Amino acid sequence: KEKKRLDYRPPEYWIKKVDLDFDVHKDTTTVRSVLTCYRNRGSPSGADLVLHGEDLTLKEVKLNGKVLSEGAEGYGHDEDKQLVIRGKLLPADPDELFKVETTVAICPEKNFQLSGLYKSGGMYCTQCEAEGFRRITYFLDRPDVMSLYTVRVEASKSEYPVLLSNGNQISSGDAADGRHYASFEDPHPKPCYLFALVVGNLKSIHSDFTTTSGRKVRLEIFSEPHNVAKLDWAMESLKKAMKWDEEKFGREYDLDVFNIVAVDDFNMGAMENKGLNVFNTALILASPDTSTDADYERIMGVIAHEYFHNWTGNRVTCRDWFQLTLKEGLTVFRDQEFSRDMASAAVKRIEDIIMLRSRQFPEDAGPMAHPIRPESYIAMDNFYTATVYEKGAEVIRMYQTLLSKHGFRKGMDLYFTRHDGQAVTCDDFRAAMADANTSDLKQFERWYLQAGTPVVTVESASYDPSLKQFTIVVSQSTPATPGQAEKHPLHIPIKTGLLSKATGKELQPSMVLELKGEKETFVFDNVPEEPIASILRDFSAPCRLKFERSPDDLAFLMAHDTDDFNRWEAGQTLATIVIKDTYNKLSAGESPPALPGVFVEAWRKVLTATDIDRSLQTYSLRLPDEKTLIGEIAAPIAPDHLHNARQHVRKGLVEACKKELREVYDKLTQEVAAEGGVFKVDEPSIARRRLRNALLISMAVLQDPETVKLAVEHFETGLCMSDRISALYALADIPVAEREAVIQKFYGDSKDDKLKMCKWFAVQAQSDLPDTVERVKELMKHPDFELKNPNKLRAVVGAFANNNFHFHRKDGAGYSLVCDVIKEVDKLNPQMASRFAVFLAGWKNVEPVRSAMMKAQLERLRDTENLSNDTMEIVIKGLSG
Ligand code: ARG
Ligand code: ZN
Repeated sequence: KEKKRLDYRPPEYWIKKVDLDFDVHKDTTTVRSVLTCYRNRGSPSGADLVLHGEDLTLKEVKLNGKVLSEGAEGYGHDEDKQLVIRGKLLPADPDELFKVETTVAICPEKNFQLSGLYKSGGMYCTQCEAEGFRRITYFLDRPDVMSLYTVRVEASKSEYPVLLSNGNQISSGDAADGRHYASFEDPHPKPCYLFALVVGNLKSIHSDFTTTSGRKVRLEIFSEPHNVAKLDWAMESLKKAMKWDEEKFGREYDLDVFNIVAVDDFNMGAMENKGLNVFNTALILASPDTSTDADYERIMGVIAHEYFHNWTGNRVTCRDWFQLTLKEGLTVFRDQEFSRDMASAAVKRIEDIIMLRSRQFPEDAGPMAHPIRPESYIAMDNFYTATVYEKGAEVIRMYQTLLSKHGFRKGMDLYFTRHDGQAVTCDDFRAAMADANTSDLKQFERWYLQAGTPVVTVESASYDPSLKQFTIVVSQSTPATPGQAEKHPLHIPIKTGLLSKATGKELQPSMVLELKGEKETFVFDNVPEEPIASILRDFSAPCRLKFERSPDDLAFLMAHDTDDFNRWEAGQTLATIVIKDTYNKLSAGESPPALPGVFVEAWRKVLTATDIDRSLQTYSLRLPDEKTLIGEIAAPIAPDHLHNARQHVRKGLVEACKKELREVYDKLTQEVAAEGGVFKVDEPSIARRRLRNALLISMAVLQDPETVKLAVEHFETGLCMSDRISALYALADIPVAEREAVIQKFYGDSKDDKLKMCKWFAVQAQSDLPDTVERVKELMKHPDFELKNPNKLRAVVGAFANNNFHFHRKDGAGYSLVCDVIKEVDKLNPQMASRFAVFLAGWKNVEPVRSAMMKAQLERLRDTENLSNDTMEIVIKGLSG
């Protein structure tokens, strides 16, 4: 069942046109489709036409209007239950069009996989990427088959007043028995994964946008009626994204309508269906009462992401699913650049790298490690990963770093002119970048071929005062990953600057060193004095940097580096050294060492600084998270020691700086009060909120009555969700009555709102309290918990599995909890189940006792009857990896 990248063959037939007819009735939707096809010239005359189909009840097949019977003279099914139209019935002339008409029945009400056409609450909606269209009708469900679509849909008018599909609505009206219909035409050929249909009782907001060349686009965003007041931020974000793509990439929208629909039950974040994006409610609904500042930011980013796909994904699409990063890496890169322009570039970069390190680095170091362009897969849905998306975006960013912004734009322009309307590959993208800049990007292909996080080591950095030369020797290596023992050197851009040790002033502004060999020497001339090097600025390549530096040098960089990212990074590196040291002591059964003075003083300096952006300040005060730290520690990991080490360091800092923490916190509180306690969303207000909320959570680590009181007050006076949820996080680890009272209070305010409930669930599942496993089991029995809703499942089980301390509880209770959930969820929604299986698959990196228990749970899954392909792929790779 495994598919391989190098096995790609073009299809036997093309589908020029698709006419779909949906007749929606309770428990049965009838789908009639007419495919206008012709043979691919490259394939032999008489080849069978094999159409994908899954969970379809076939009613009728016609060829050119004539009913076909089942059997050797008509249609058949192959071993994979695909529909076979015998080649001998099809025209010998490749230019001759023929029509295949199928009628199938499907049941969206019982489609709990949320792939294909399914019911979410009171509405019908679709999710076709990657291979969901075959769950709607028989088709060549592969992205290189691009067709023109017309769609007619009919449903009850009173129950489902809104009918939507891709493209322009061309007619609508009443039908018999209180029903109505609408039909649509999409003028752009598209692969079937971009098809969408929505049928529901929806309300909307609308606006419009005029493109530079004068096209007036009607923008409309739909949700269930009770959510319609929370759509304005999404609309505002959409318009900003449309404008930005015109300004930065010269890309205009190409239809007269752009619709977005918010749905409650959705496996992923959102989907870029042509002219009809579908969004998880969690990534589109925004209000101060329900959404944190981080939610607002993410919504703007995801709205932009899906919109940007219209060019990078839809107009130019993927030839096959191995090329997924062609559209995802590129579109993530584009949304990152957009977000950097909308707010603070440095803050956004730090956030993106925190994410990359905590989610993608572990993937690259585990049994599922794969290149951004995977070589094989069993279930494609398992490859919508941080590697394909986030590392993929870093690879795109490296083109820009190597070719300059201007050169990158030239490459993008060439990519669009060459490939508009085509389904292409990552190699085509790389060729466009190379050709537009007459640059050699051959070695750069290895970023697409090799898995694993490369390690860049600064072997030596030395100054020769007589020659006024500064020399650094840099080497690279990439650790072996499953199935890929040998690695070759990559083409790595290393942004580097030099600072004066005496003044902190820049001696050499940022320049890009290109490391291509295993080990190279770089010499800087005319360096007047001994410098201190700032290397891998702005995180110019997705690598681990090994560069021995003293705590004093790191503290110096924290204070003086002219690169915002590296100033933050120096603090992270210093903190990592301290936590690692503590971890090693705890692991050896010794008592933890005292915190180094330079570290405490550097932290205090950041805390009390008044001249830096408060968002940057917040991130600089934050210690690296456990998932990130794991990568810095030699396996096997003892998760409890790691957690305790980090907590110990947190506590040490807070104890040492208790007075200053409170002073800064109080000052911020007074500022808010001085403004009359109004909620504001401008950058300084967001930054202030971020800092104040983080300080509260820091102080709470001491668990003293004074801070408990403060947290309760913080909750009571909170102006928005950001404030209130922070108070809840501050209290979450403290076993006091106030904690339970605030949780109850929050529940009272949230029980009617699904997204607020998700926050309520997650904060408890992430708690440090000793009985967290038991509480999570209770939460799963809570009347507001829904196993079928991915958001709630993520809020409880996802949050718990990410709670490193309790997931790895010594007695194995965390593992068996997650395994039990996987078994249950797998029967409903394999895509969700397999995501949780990934947590157990990491058993090899954990100390032996826990490791054995994790492995046993994986074996339990392997021995489960009827386990889905999705989950089985993770289990098998986990066991063998
Ligand atoms: N293309 C979507 C996005 O990144 C994600 C859809 C993934 N769907 C899935 N079932 N794996 O914007
Ligand atoms: Zn995407």
